[in-house]
Formats: sequence, C-alpha cells, structure tokens
Amino acid sequence: MSEGVNRQFLLAARPHGMVKESDFEYREVAVPKPGAGEALIKTGYISLDPSMRGQMENRADYVAPLQLGDVMRAGAVGEVVASNNPSYPEGTLVSGAFGMQDYAVSDGKNLPMRAFDAGIDPTVALGVLGGTGMTAYFGLLEIGQPKAGDVVVISGAAGATGSVAGQIAKLKGCTVFGMAGSDEKCAWLTDELGFDGAFNYRTADAKAELSRLCPKGINIFFDNVGGEILDICLARIAMNARIVICGGISRYNATGPLPGPKNYFNLVFRRARMEGFIVIDYAHRFKEATAEMRGWIDAGLLKQQTTVIDSFKELPRALIKLFEGFNTGKLMVRAS
Ligand SMILES: NC(=O)c1ccc[n+]([C@@H]2O[C@H](COP(=O)([O-])OP(=O)(O)OC[C@H]3O[C@@H](n4cnc5c(N)ncnc54)[C@H](OP(=O)(O)O)[C@@H]3O)[C@@H](O)[C@H]2O)c1
Repeated sequence: MSEGVNRQFLLAARPHGMVKESDFEYREVAVPKPGAGEALIKTGYISLDPSMRGQMENRADYVAPLQLGDVMRAGAVGEVVASNNPSYPEGTLVSGAFGMQDYAVSDGKNLPMRAFDAGIDPTVALGVLGGTGMTAYFGLLEIGQPKAGDVVVISGAAGATGSVAGQIAKLKGCTVFGMAGSDEKCAWLTDELGFDGAFNYRTADAKAELSRLCPKGINIFFDNVGGEILDICLARIAMNARIVICGGISRYNATGPLPGPKNYFNLVFRRARMEGFIVIDYAHRFKEATAEMRGWIDAGLLKQQTTVIDSFKELPRALIKLFEGFNTGKLMVRAS
C-alpha cells in the first residue's frame, strides 16, 4: 500500500490580503511508510476552513506555526490503509489535520485523530460531526447557553458552522434568524432548515431587518463574521444577552488595522456577555457531542449540507471560493 504517488500542496508564500493560488506549490512525492506504532491514512475528503488563512500567516497561536515549504495544514477525513497501531486498524474511518495531501501517517498522538464508527458517511464525519459541527454545538450550548424562547441571530448562517448552530438553536426551542450572502441561501435556511427568518446581508438593510425581526432584542448572537455585522447586532442586544464570538471572517483577508466594535458599551447597559472560544478546548467532549448529534441526525432533526469540489488540484482555488461565499453548508474537496 506504500507504493504510488502522494500529491501535496505546500505553503509557498505568506499571503497579503486575499489568499492566492500562487501562495501554494503543488508537488508529488512517494507515499510514506508507516513506522512502529503508526497508521497510514489515505485521505478521502479535505476540509476548507476560514482559519487556514490565518495559519498561512501564523496568526493563529493555538496551533503550531507553519513554515514555508510545509504541507499546507487542513482537516481531512480518510481511511486507515495500513497500520502498525492496534487502536487504528485497517479500514477505520479517521479524521485529523492530515493536510492538503493524499496520504498522512500518524500514531494518533503526534497528529491527533478521531476514529468514527463503521458506517458513518465520510462527508458527515468531516461536516456535521466534524470540526465545524463541534464548533456549532459547543459554541451555541456552552457559550450561548440557549433557553427556550430566546431570540437567536446567526451571521454566516448558511455556512458549515452557522447552519448547524441554527438547527441546534431550533432544537432548543429558540426563535432563529440567519444572515447569509444570497437569496438562495436564505431560502434554504427557512425552507429546509426551519429558520424563522433570514435575510441577505449583501442586499438588505441589516439594521432595519433586525429591528423588524427582533423587536424585543437579540438574546444570543452567534457571530461568524465580525466587523459591521457585529456592531449592528451589538446595538440590538436584549438584557443579559450572550454574544458568541465564533469567528470573524470579514477580517481574515483584510490588510491594515481594523476598527473595533463601536457599540461594545451596550454590553454594560444590557448586562451582556461577549465571549470567544476555540473548539479544540472541547476535544475531550467530542464523543459526547457526537453521540447526541447522531441521535438528532438519525431522527431527521439535524440536516447536513455539503458543497463538494471534485478535484484535488482545485484545493487552493477552493480555499479562495470559501471567502467568495461559494459554499452552502460544509465546503470540502474530494481527494480520492
Ligand atoms: N472558534 C472556533 O473554534 C471556530 C472553529 C471553526 C470555525 N470557526 C469560525 O466560524 C466561521 C465559519 O466557518 P466555517 O468553516 O463554518 O465556514 P463557512 O461558514 O462554511 O464558510 C464561510 C462563509 O462565510 C461567508 N463569508 C465569506 N467572506 C465573508 C465576508 N467578508 N463577510 C461576511 N461573510 C463572509 C460566506 O458565506 P456568505 O455567502 O453568507 O457570505 C462563506 O460561505 C469562521 O469565522 C471560522 O473562522 C471558529
């Protein structure tokens, strides 16, 4: 199994502004051989995540730095195709930061892996049960602490994290409104996922829409976007609101210093809490979340949507597409 070619994309340049295809270099190397205690994983689907942009510039201090010439870090799901580790026998479906490549080796510790039960669809393992699903689950439930009747607003609502956070908020009895970048995405949120309302932040007057939809204010704002959207929502928070800072994609490709939120003082007037989090801090609880979410999936209460790009060579372009709003739900590239 260790013969053949391992296609890879390396980090070739630190991007300035919008990430470019020339920031990556393609190469082919031999498939690695698993050493003692290691498993060889063949990646099936590779995840595109907004945080990859910050990692290209080493702006994310919660992961090891990336050097120029390193295989670009990326989450992926794959199958163990050869193994010297009894915890990961051949045929096991695993996910981990396997990178933009066809094959990776891991002993489960140097490159932590999650093993999934047989029969789980790999796109589900990378999507709704993957990193973004876990982010939605812990961000909403632990930081947002939803109660039945709460009004929840979600930015980036039609993406991988936002769409799952919104569905979980509905399961908890909340009224849920989403913002997304196209009318089609908004229709999907309301018609397919059961959101109570959604609007296209690119064309609508967000301030007017939020005052119409949330006349009594916002109890939870689950923010994936930051910038002006965060400011507009801060102006509309209800008493004791929780603002979940999940991400701030509007700033990831920006150059130069960015303004802070102007309306932060409403946190004082409304006795509100704004809190950030990083999903890996909840890794010890992923099993518990996976079990509960599988129950919801099996009962038809939690839906998964993926946007799959069918070519390994498109990986750099796929990352750019994430920032162009190409995806509905989880964006991934099929590697093999
Ligand atoms: N805290 C954590 O541990 C953690 C973990 C995972 C992800 N996150 C964060 O969660 C957020 C969503 O990540 P994801 O992986 O689920 O991605 P995603 O939402 O599936 O995809 C990104 C979406 O963001 C929107 N977008 C892109 N550029 C934008 C801009 N300048 N302004 C507003 N919207 C923009 C696009 O949708 P539209 O068409 O709607 O514009 C795009 O489809 C990101 O901020 C990410 O960094 C945080």
